[in-house]
Formats: sequence, C-alpha cells, structure tokens
Amino acid sequence: MKMDVLLGLQWGDEGKGKVVDVLAPQYDVVARFQGGPNAGHTLEFDGIKHVLHQIPSGIFRENILNIIGNGVVLDPVVLRKEIEGLHKFNIAFKKNLFISKKATIIIPTHKLLDAAYEKSKGDKKIGSTLKGIGPTYQDKVGRVALRVGDILAADFDDKYATLVEKHKTILSFYEFDISQLTELEKIFFDAVAFFRTLNLVDSEYEVNDYLASGKKVLAEGAQGSLLDIDFGSYPFVTSSSTMVAGACTGLGVSPSKIGEVFGIFKAYCTRVGSGPFPTELHDATGEAMRKEGNEFGSTTGRPRRCGWIDLPALKYSIMINGVTQLFMMKADVLNIFEEIKICTHYELADGSKVDRLTYELNNDEVKPVYLTVPGWFTSLAEVNEYEKFPKELRNYVDLLEKELGVPIKLVSVGPDRKQTILR
Ligand code: GDP
Ligand code: IMO
Ligand code: MG
Repeated sequence: MKMDVLLGLQWGDEGKGKVVDVLAPQYDVVARFQGGPNAGHTLEFDGIKHVLHQIPSGIFRENILNIIGNGVVLDPVVLRKEIEGLHKFNIAFKKNLFISKKATIIIPTHKLLDAAYEKSKGDKKIGSTLKGIGPTYQDKVGRVALRVGDILAADFDDKYATLVEKHKTILSFYEFDISQLTELEKIFFDAVAFFRTLNLVDSEYEVNDYLASGKKVLAEGAQGSLLDIDFGSYPFVTSSSTMVAGACTGLGVSPSKIGEVFGIFKAYCTRVGSGPFPTELHDATGEAMRKEGNEFGSTTGRPRRCGWIDLPALKYSIMINGVTQLFMMKADVLNIFEEIKICTHYELADGSKVDRLTYELNNDEVKPVYLTVPGWFTSLAEVNEYEKFPKELRNYVDLLEKELGVPIKLVSVGPDRKQTILR
C-alpha cells in the first residue's frame, strides 16, 4: 500500500484541516510530518468549530490512528492544552494518538529566542507565529535539540539544562528579558510529566508496518509549499520542508511508497506574516475577501492578506510536489464578485512576461497580468452536487484545470464537513 499526501499549495490556511477530516474515513491512519504549533487546522461539523495545532485532523473520526511524525517540532505545553480541550468529546487518545520519539521538542527558551530574533529584525521581521519553530529546527539541524524520546531518559533534566544555558547566552546577547522563564519552565515540566503518559513510539516502524499490512495512510501537511524552507519565498518562510519530500523524511517513508499527492488551494490567495505576495489587494476588494472569507489567522488571529488566485505560483507548487489531484477550497467566498481575476503571468520591470517563480522574482517587484472572467455572483448555499454549480463557477474550475494540467477533484463551498463537493 502507498501513502497518500495532502499538502497546501499556497501560503498555508488553504483548508487542509477540513479536507483531512472529510477524507479521514477512507483511511486507517492520519499522520502529521512537519511543522508544529504554528499550524492552525480548522474542522467544522455538528455546529462546532475545532482548531487543531499539533494533533492530526483525523482525531475526531473513530478507529483512525493519528500519528505525529519525527519531522514535527512539538510543544508539550500546547499538546497538553489541546488534549485537555478535547476531553469533553471523549476521544480515546490512548488508543488513537501516537507520537514519534524522534520528534523534536520545543522548550520555553525556543519561544523567547523566536521573539528575540524577530525583534532584532525590525521591519524586516518574518511575521513568525512566535511558537518557537525556527529556533527549534535550528537546534535540530545544529544537533543539540531535545527529542521526545529524551523525556523518558534519566538524564533529561541535565540535557535540558545544557540546552537552556546555551539559549540564555544567546538571549543575553540580544538583551532579551527572560524574567518569565521560571514560570514558563514550571508549566513546561508539568506538561512533560503529562507527555510521558502518552504513546511514544518509533513511528517510522508503525507507518511502514501499516503500509505493509495493506492499511491506508494519509500524510497531513502543515503550512504550504510557498512557505517551504527551500522553495518558499525565502527568508519569509517557515523552517520545515512543507513539500511532498517532507512527508518522506518526516515519517520515514520511501519516495517509492508515495501514492496520490493531493494539492489543496483556495479559489483566491491569502498570506499571514511578511513576504512577497504578487496578487495582494490593498483595496476594498481585498477587504471584502477578508470579510467574506473570515480571513483571520487560526493560530494568531492576525488578519490574513488577501488577493486573486496566482497561477504561476500554483504551477510551481504543483511541479515541485508532483500533485496528482487538486482540491479547490472556499469557492463560496468569491460569490460576492461580479468579476473574478486570475493571474496568469507576471510582468517584469523590463516589460517581459513570465509564468515562472525564478530566484529573482523573490526580490523584484512584479506586476501580475490578469485574465478577467465573469463571477457567478450568487449564493452556493444550496449547491450540494457538481451539476448544480452555476455555469460561471464550472467555467472557472474548467479554466483552472486546463491551465494547471491536473484534475480538480473536489470543490469546497463552505467550512462544514458537508459543504464538500466531489467531482
Ligand atoms: P488549514 O491551516 O489549511 O487547515 O486552514 P485554516 O483552518 O487555517 O483556514 C481555513 C479556514 O477556512 C477555516 O476557518 C475553515 O473553517 C474555513 N474553510 C475551509 N473550507 C472552506 C470553504 O470552502 N468555505 C469557507 N467559507 N470557509 C472554509
Ligand atoms: P497552517 O498549517 C499560514 C507563516 C507565519 C510567518 C511564517 C513563519 O495553519 O496552514 P513560523 O512561526 O513558522 O516561524 O512563521 O510562516 N505561517 C503560516 N501561515 N498558515 C500556517 O500554518 C502557518 N505557519 C506559519 O505567519 O509568516
Ligand atoms: Mg491554518
């Protein structure tokens, strides 16, 4: 059996949580492979909205195993809060949640370092979620990080103390106030004690054993391809491999065992935090999109920047991921527009037009070249099958499919589980 991968093709918040929850009944296992509490994945059903940060989005489905893989950076404090927040839903965490011993632990000083680094950048800041992601991945690659398995060893406190000393030296260089550290450490160590009671496993064996025994595994990406550490709009990116290759290294699965690659995108674009965004709208249209799409960050509550769909960027993400199926989200948000714009190319300073995301594009101002198409300008509330889509929406889907060269197999028309149309 091969492992399917679902990942965001834009700058995150495409609706990954919703779709993983919708697809989960077709799978035996849902596994997160990178990122950490910077993610905010929203699920809505039975009139309730849930935002998950570290727990995979299969958790609300019975009999589905949820795995947090080795590629994830995990904050025990956030995890404990998430698990306690779900108590009233009677989720069998003991039975359904497994955590890799090789996942990396976010400690309190990682969050302080995140804040210190951002502050030092002034107006060049990344707009980090300040969850400690960058500093933790830095320590992982620097070979000094703590891993989940370490919390079971007798020398955990010593290892922790060694790392904190290192961090304190850096924080004092940045003259960063660490007066809250003692309190943060108390909460951290309480959470670590709770963490020890969870299922801590060698998840690469679990995942490969499941695949070998014919079980279906879905890998759930966090962030999006345009925030990838290698291929995103560097340095305005996150610190992990958000692309399909990240699913291999973040779970210990061979590339030869990757099956479908589901690429998910909004019918328009959003971005939280700093960095280039060629189709961003700074006007009333962008404001209307934000309002209609309720575009405020699931993790930080920050307003998301909004703009029209960007085909060169989508083509790039499709290419680096080998996407086999596309899922288009939030079509209903475009209900309010009589006309819709599609960015097909970028115009460079010398007047030439390109549809590629080259290295230079990251730094140079580019002008989007738009194709304008008629909107459907009507509610999709009653639309429950593809045949009922307004003609203009069908044309929009057909046009994107033709331009992108990959079938659009799912269209989402609202935040609820039920507002999902398969083609
Ligand atoms: P994720 O990080 O990719 O899981 O996405 P987020 O949960 O951060 O953001 C997506 C937001 O859009 C959430 O508030 C979802 O409830 C909402 N959403 C998902 N699909 C749709 C849709 O088709 N229509 C509308 N209006 N909202 C949607
Ligand atoms: P989900 O999984 C949208 C952005 C931050 C910032 C940059 C780096 O919900 O799609 P970090 O905290 O990783 O150092 O921040 O990346 N970012 C996200 N934007 N959705 C996310 O996750 C994000 N995770 C990080 O806003 O610009
Ligand atoms: Mg999100």
